[in-house]
Amino acid sequence: MKNKVALYGAGNVGATTAHWLAQMEIADLVLFDIFGQIGAGKALDLYESGPALGFDGRITGSNDPAIIEGADVVVVTAGVPRRKDPETGKFPSRDELVKINQEVMEVVAENIKKYAPDSIVVLVTNPLDAMAHVMLRKTGFEPRRVIGQAGALDTARYKTFIADELGVSVEDVHGIVLGGHGDTMVPLPRLTSVAGIPVTELISQEKLDAIIERTRKGGGEIVGLLGYSGYYAPAAGTAIMVESILKDKKRVIPSAIYTQGEYGYHDLFIGLPAVLGRNGVERVIEFELTAEERAMLDHSAEAVRSVVAVLGYD
Ligand code: APR
Repeated sequence: MKNKVALYGAGNVGATTAHWLAQMEIADLVLFDIFGQIGAGKALDLYESGPALGFDGRITGSNDPAIIEGADVVVVTAGVPRRKDPETGKFPSRDELVKINQEVMEVVAENIKKYAPDSIVVLVTNPLDAMAHVMLRKTGFEPRRVIGQAGALDTARYKTFIADELGVSVEDVHGIVLGGHGDTMVPLPRLTSVAGIPVTELISQEKLDAIIERTRKGGGEIVGLLGYSGYYAPAAGTAIMVESILKDKKRVIPSAIYTQGEYGYHDLFIGLPAVLGRNGVERVIEFELTAEERAMLDHSAEAVRSVVAVLGYD
């Protein structure tokens, strides 16, 4: 039977993820969004692009969540972004945003449980680690079936800047970024290579530090240019996670996973190297971190813990 992927939220990241997935021809796609008819409209527009580019697969959309019924994978981007309140002109505080999106996520989780109880959830809505926490708790799914998109994007940004610096193909740059987005990102330059050659032998420490800093601030750089968040790279990171799951490729993709002892952490979503396959997180790869890397990961875990506390569970 053909795979089915549901895009729960058809805004910029949701619709662009659908775009990449459509070209991969790995599943029928459904786009759901509560805003007007954008789910149906974007789905039809994308469906009509198939003949021009030569891809097959059904693409439909709706503002009725029942459309996600029976999905193998649900990509969740529904939520409210961090933007100025038009009346007060103020940005919501971090905690206010957590509460707003917590309410959204609780409804999303109920619908996924109802319509796609056997699905694997790839979550993108920020603040990611806290939203993943809500999703896991409210669906009651096994932890391996709730996965946050975090490192796939940061790693892609990191590799872009390295390939650009050296003038080599992005295909030959290997490396991962662990931890959370932004300030709590944990880069691993000692494990980054270009066709197997350690990057530390090719790029000076000073330049590598600048690349890492740019990666950390990668989201902000795009917001500074666009006035809102990026979506091509976030969607691409999401699409490769879905591909690895549906094709059971078992790619190693840094993802926010619910820790149950891995790296010594418990009951928190943390960005770690995960093997993604048909069961979701097939396993987490553990390896020895240096004291400095461990300290950065601890800092990341602390940041997640403080946001999860805002949820007010237990
Ligand atoms: N059910 C379904 N859709 C919803 C709901 C809901 N309860 N609440 C909001 N939405 C929809 C909005 O109508 C909107 O179309 O979620 C979509 C979010 O899309 P955008 O505002 O375009 O945001 P986007 O850039 O796609 O980012 C989505 O991903 O990377 C993260 O930080 C980002 O949390 C944000 C999320």
